[in-house]
Amino acid sequence: MNITAKTKICIIIGDPVAHSLSPRMHNAAYKALGIDDQYVFIAAQVKSQDLADAATGMRAMGIHGITCTMPHKIDIMQYLDSIDTAAQKIGAVNTVVNENGILRGYNTDWLGIVTPLERITKLQGKKAAVIGAGGASRAALYGLQQNKIFVCVFNRSLDKAQELAQEFAVSAKSLEEISDIKHYDIIINTTSLGMHPHEHETPVPESYITSDHIVFDVIYSPYETRLLKEAKKAGARVIHGVEMLLHQGTAQFELYTGKKAPEKEMKRVLNIKS
Ligand code: ATR
Repeated sequence: MNITAKTKICIIIGDPVAHSLSPRMHNAAYKALGIDDQYVFIAAQVKSQDLADAATGMRAMGIHGITCTMPHKIDIMQYLDSIDTAAQKIGAVNTVVNENGILRGYNTDWLGIVTPLERITKLQGKKAAVIGAGGASRAALYGLQQNKIFVCVFNRSLDKAQELAQEFAVSAKSLEEISDIKHYDIIINTTSLGMHPHEHETPVPESYITSDHIVFDVIYSPYETRLLKEAKKAGARVIHGVEMLLHQGTAQFELYTGKKAPEKEMKRVLNIKS
């Protein structure tokens, strides 16, 4: 261990947080670049009612980077000095950088969605179906909005889909119209359907998926959801949820260190198979 009195502290705060892979991913990346004397990444369980105290404490102690996960991504915003455009539009912050006492908020979740897609396809001119209307959906919509791409939000509650559609200038449909998905190139699941312990669930009936689809499930537990298994069977190209974790993480690493993230090492730590 190379920690000294000068080592900068990065911390993930959430509740729960013990399952988080961020400390392993970032610490492995520091080691790979030989900067594990300069940075260390730890975790703290912070309850919602303690967030104000935690923010004051982190400011007082000069914590260098603060990664926010559930349930703090929205509430942290009131304690920051500045918030970048992406985070403002998405309405959530997952990354805070302490620049000499000034707390700057960012959102890298949208890069976690767009980067893996861009690696396998040209987004411009494509049609994307985003299933769900929660926080992950907002990150996806913001990311897709940066490209010239037709997007439709499919959600169980149509009113929520319509609200998002208005905000992000996309279309909206109820989950009951999911058969329409046949006409899209890209399918992104942002709902919890299929997440452990509900592995048997899926938002898209198998028969609607074809080999022309790219299917991205943001769920990373299980590693391969029912949706992705069935998409693979249909011959579609798939993107696993852990890719979102990786790419929001590489962007975050670059904000914390100013260095290019060692993606290969971060992938190894996350057990990404491809
Ligand atoms: P996050 O912030 O993690 O993206 P969220 O805000 O809890 O998640 O949003 C969950 C999304 O999953 C919502 O779009 C929700 O649909 P509703 O808006 O109709 O509630 C969707 N969802 C959750 N469980 C679902 C289920 N059993 N069937 C269909 N949609 C579901």
